[in-house]
Amino acid sequence: MTVNIALLGFGTVASGVPFLLQENSTKITAQAGTDIQIAKVLVRDVAEKDVLRAQGHAYDFVTDISAILNDDAIDIVIELMGRIEPAKTFITQALQAKKHVVTANKDLLAMHGADLLKVAKDNGVALYYEAAVAGGIPILRTLAHSYTADKITKILGVVNGTSNFMMTKMVDEGWTYDEALAEASRLGYAESDPTNDVDGIDAAYKMVILSQFAFGMTIKFDDVRHEGIRHITPEDVKLAQKLGFVIKLVGEIVERPSGIYAEVVPTFLPKDHQLATVNGVMNAVFVESIGINEAMFYGPGAGQKPTATSVVADVIELAKGIQKGAVLPAFNTFARETVYATKEDLVDKYYFAIETDDKAGQLLHLAELFHAENVSFEQVFQENLGDNRASIAIIAHKMDLNQFDSLVEKISALDGFTLRNTIKVI
Ligand SMILES: NC(=O)c1ccc[n+]([C@@H]2O[C@H](COP(=O)([O-])OP(=O)(O)OC[C@H]3O[C@@H](n4cnc5c(N)ncnc54)[C@H](OP(=O)(O)O)[C@@H]3O)[C@@H](O)[C@H]2O)c1
Repeated sequence: MTVNIALLGFGTVASGVPFLLQENSTKITAQAGTDIQIAKVLVRDVAEKDVLRAQGHAYDFVTDISAILNDDAIDIVIELMGRIEPAKTFITQALQAKKHVVTANKDLLAMHGADLLKVAKDNGVALYYEAAVAGGIPILRTLAHSYTADKITKILGVVNGTSNFMMTKMVDEGWTYDEALAEASRLGYAESDPTNDVDGIDAAYKMVILSQFAFGMTIKFDDVRHEGIRHITPEDVKLAQKLGFVIKLVGEIVERPSGIYAEVVPTFLPKDHQLATVNGVMNAVFVESIGINEAMFYGPGAGQKPTATSVVADVIELAKGIQKGAVLPAFNTFARETVYATKEDLVDKYYFAIETDDKAGQLLHLAELFHAENVSFEQVFQENLGDNRASIAIIAHKMDLNQFDSLVEKISALDGFTLRNTIKVI
């Protein structure tokens, strides 16, 4: 028996699939129990087909998805085009044509995963996507298979390589945000529009997916509070260092008595926290649970070979089931009603960076404002910036999310004060 696959797109990750199938062919065939063959590859147009052929790729390239949908010999469709459309339509059509689907498309899964999983279930086929979170780290299958007996209480993740590369440069070299972005672009880590990476959007997509595997709940993307790294200055980095912290963009999902909550925000991490050691483009997912306690899964979050390895692992799992003729299990079977935590139940420490005129009484204004919210200062640093301006950095004691939101609103509205930045402190 041979399991036939079709690739949608032949870019960075997709072109790694045939490479792996060849490089590890003996192990892959033994593990899958069958040969896996690339039957068709969907490319954008005839010109791309010609270029790929000229490069020596001898696949059956097609430019019309129906050539794949109508081919009964194709068992698995691998979507590696990215973006929402036409990926969503093509995946839906493939599932309706009773083909299993593998994808690495976190944007699509975060926005429309529930709908696609329903189409898969209704058609008796499976949708697998190990590569969608932290590309080369086998975290989703680990959560779905190895944490079945455990209760996860918190997930912390450094899951965006581009922003982590930039933050590492800003921390280790003292670079500004703009300098770090320029280097990330030069090295090909940042896209021409870096918004998704630097504003925490990509990491928020991954929190949506992780919430399903770790907590059995689906947090909607719009409910993941996300903030990026654009506003972090060398002064924030220096102060963090002075206090024994490093700043990273950290995604967090936590289960509190009232429900779950997810966010992606710049965070002061103690230097001895394992996540603080995750540097450059590397990713890590830190899992806190009742049984295993603390475990960190570390590795490459992107790249052709790491990501294609996760994609092919999904294909092998599917191939094993296809031969048995059994209905394939869903990728994740942990599901319960989604209940969101109340803001009162979310308590953290925060750093506030504020600029104001350098004159008497300014700190008192702030102290009164914090006092009115029942929040006290843990540490305060003041620095003269010249031109009669001063910078005030406050690390406040723990407060709940209502108090934090209220403080942000009130400081922002305070005449003569500029709230330059807020950063969570772990
Ligand atoms: N790269 C990584 O390390 C990584 C890691 C984890 C997850 N992922 C995910 O994996 C997916 C693929 O990423 P990638 O980096 O391989 O992207 P990529 O290099 O841009 O490849 C995507 C390919 O699909 C083609 N394509 C787009 N729309 C098409 C259409 N309608 N018909 C046929 N071909 C089409 C693109 O052609 P054009 O160039 O003509 O647009 C391009 O060749 C994305 O969902 C991404 O988020 C990637």
